[in-house]
Amino acid sequence: MGARPASRATFDHIKSDMKMMRILAITNQKGGVGKTTTAVNLAASLSATKQRVLLVDLDPQANATMGSGVDKRNLSGSIYQVLLGEKPLSNVRVRSGGNDYDVVPANRELAGAEIEMVDLDEREKRLKIALQCHTEDYDYVLIDCPPALSLLTVNGLTAAQAVMIPMQCEYFALEGLSDLVQTVKRVREHLNPTLEIEGLLRTMYDPRNTLALQVSRQLMDHFGDKVYRTVIPRNIRLAEAPSHGLSIMQYDLNSKGAQAYIALAGEMLNRRQEMHL
Ligand SMILES: Nc1ncnc2c1ncn2[C@@H]1O[C@H](COP(=O)(O)OP(=O)(O)OP(=O)(O)O)[C@@H](O)[C@H]1O
Ligand SMILES: [Mg+2]
Repeated sequence: MGARPASRATFDHIKSDMKMMRILAITNQKGGVGKTTTAVNLAASLSATKQRVLLVDLDPQANATMGSGVDKRNLSGSIYQVLLGEKPLSNVRVRSGGNDYDVVPANRELAGAEIEMVDLDEREKRLKIALQCHTEDYDYVLIDCPPALSLLTVNGLTAAQAVMIPMQCEYFALEGLSDLVQTVKRVREHLNPTLEIEGLLRTMYDPRNTLALQVSRQLMDHFGDKVYRTVIPRNIRLAEAPSHGLSIMQYDLNSKGAQAYIALAGEMLNRRQEMHL
């Protein structure tokens, strides 16, 4: 179905309102680096500190949906309908199971959205427009992007104020990172001039691994303060929690994984306060 083109006035309104609500795209085109684990557990730990959080699942794999305790096989609506303009976001968002945050869920249907959106007006801005009515509802919107630089990811990057990049400190990590930085630059030039890099998060980190230490040092040299001080260790409890539809805070609060995501939320909140964002 067609969409009304948004007027310039509409976008000015979005821009001024977005200051209150911090929208972060959690992205890395490389698969399996910890994007979804970060999206779910950061949503849970930020909401535990009384932040109002919305988690948007932009991945047809729907791992963030399931990991939030929401059954993807039993949805009354999903991000797919929101992107296609068939349902408002307020009709499809649900509460995460047992955590204090909201989820805009996804399922396999979302894979078709890539093609179906191609002919729609403002196809890169569909998510941005959908979030426009909710600037008062949340302190943080976390967008879990799929492992591709696709139209879905571009929607995430266009809606966001900043990107959070989870990465493993491995041999090819820096190469992949430069592709991602180029994509961020392109989106900045064409779609979202104020898009920033919020931070780089080292995931599945093992300090006994000398390669990890080397890559980590290179990251610091190149990105300085953009690299979070908090690292997420490799922790089996983090891998187990989603199969129970639980965040790590619910599954094992005392685990190293839970403590790391709580520390990350603290670091983000401190940074935001310092930067008056
Ligand atoms: N810190 C960690 N310690 C141990 N296992 C982890 C950790 N972080 C993530 N995992 C596991 O690694 C796998 C990949 O993680 P995750 O799904 O979060 O990555 P992703 O970047 O979202 O993947 P995709 O690109 O497929 O969306 C999962 O099985 C997850 O449980
Ligand atoms: Mg994922």
